[in-house]
Amino acid sequence: MNKTEKIIVLDFGGQYNQLIARRVRELNVYCEVRSHEIDIEELKQIAPKGIIFTGGPNSAYLEDSPSIDKRVFDLGIPILGICYGMQIMAHLLGGKVESAEKGEYGKMPITVAEDTFLLKDLKQNSITWMSHMDYISSLPAGFKMTANTENCPFAAMENVEKGLYGVQFHPEVNHTEEGGKVLREFVYGVCKCEGNWKMAEFTVKAVEEIKQKVGDKKVLLALSGGVDSSVVAAMISKAIGDQLTCIFVDHGLLRLNEGDEVEKIFTDGFNLNFVRVDAEKRFLDKLAGVSDPEKKRKIIGEEFIRVFEDEAKKIGKVHFLAQGTIYPDVIESGLGKSAVIKSHHNVGGLPDHVDFEEILEPLRDLFKDEVRQVGLELGLPENLVFRQPFPGPGLAVRVLGDITKEKLDILRPADAIFREELEKSGISKSLGQYFAVLTNMKTVGVMGDERTYDHVLALRSVNTVDFMTAEWSKIPLEVLDKVSNRIINECKHINRIVYDITGKPPGTIEFE
Ligand code: XMP
Repeated sequence: MNKTEKIIVLDFGGQYNQLIARRVRELNVYCEVRSHEIDIEELKQIAPKGIIFTGGPNSAYLEDSPSIDKRVFDLGIPILGICYGMQIMAHLLGGKVESAEKGEYGKMPITVAEDTFLLKDLKQNSITWMSHMDYISSLPAGFKMTANTENCPFAAMENVEKGLYGVQFHPEVNHTEEGGKVLREFVYGVCKCEGNWKMAEFTVKAVEEIKQKVGDKKVLLALSGGVDSSVVAAMISKAIGDQLTCIFVDHGLLRLNEGDEVEKIFTDGFNLNFVRVDAEKRFLDKLAGVSDPEKKRKIIGEEFIRVFEDEAKKIGKVHFLAQGTIYPDVIESGLGKSAVIKSHHNVGGLPDHVDFEEILEPLRDLFKDEVRQVGLELGLPENLVFRQPFPGPGLAVRVLGDITKEKLDILRPADAIFREELEKSGISKSLGQYFAVLTNMKTVGVMGDERTYDHVLALRSVNTVDFMTAEWSKIPLEVLDKVSNRIINECKHINRIVYDITGKPPGTIEFE
């Protein structure tokens, strides 16, 4: 196989650093995010086909702002600067960046110049997404203006001879109508990539690498049934079969039939040792009477590790502990500059007392959508591969207040009906995440001729790209009506159903 060609995204603190890398990978070119502080020698060694500078919140002309070794411009590697990335390029090469009286935020039409290499496929008037206060008031020598807006004289610039390009707008976001064309032209037209990053090839290569690395040693994996750990299980099993043991801790906080489904997939379809631990009682005992959300999470996280350790001890020494770390986790923990680090912990953190020597993380380089493609390549069913995220603490954060088995059993069928109806109606594919929540409120109702005093169920559905922000979903009323009827008729102990119309912010996606 050819050497994998690379584009490097240098992060200057922009919120879209991962998105840029994903967009490049969607063009079949491998792309990694690194800090703008990367050593120039290391950059040379990586020998990327191209470099992209991200945006960022700083002002390029201030001393303390993130900058870069100027020798980067002499490596002969094409560079595309986006927003702040364009401004820092202009600043370092002798142009002028100033604070504008009026910034540009949101959708902005640009006028594209006639003579441009990078933007040659764009319409003369194209809608872009801008987010800047500073602007370039004079270009560095050797550059020409390739687009402008009403307020911004240099909305794009290029020095074709040196392979240096800048755009003030964000080509990586969907609001920029023709952003995809800009990145495509940079990657293929300017950097001359061939596009050799293909998931099918990656999968074959990764399986081969695992075989080589593991040899005849043993591997242990905590399988949650989520996308990442399931794909890791499928991949390692393909490489080394039953030298892999998967421990599936069923904490009793899973959705309706979920545990059985996971067990069936991995015992029927894959060659591996599958250990399902029924730990419901252990978890519920520890959680009894606890209603503080953070305490609940902590108990579950800790107990999960303890159960896993107990099982692992029975297996004895293993050489590798496998983990479902994916690329966004690596970026978030590694760069530390721009990334918003999630406060959530994933159940299945690293156990202290399991006897292993090395960690195996075969998905470290992949984004979520790539992990899904690999899952399909490996024969995992679509309903698992395209599963919506499910929090590690499971239904414990969807049964509000203290948790009992009884409450979990009230929630499960109602949640299943909600999900089933959304899936049947065909709109579920456009929704980011949807589920039901058992509130800790009871209200008075009337059913038949009887007064009831029972639980209030809340339905939650959000549309989101990154799960950091979200809008509540405008589900058709007929669908909500059907869900409501079915739940009232088919589920016990629920006499009122409400639909959550809160975005994130101010609400989080989960209730706890
Ligand atoms: P929030 O509720 O913070 O959730 O808006 C954002 C996304 O994260 C998921 N989530 C979790 N995932 N462990 C996880 O693995 C957790 O503790 C956890 N808490 C929330 C949530 O389902 C949503 O997709």
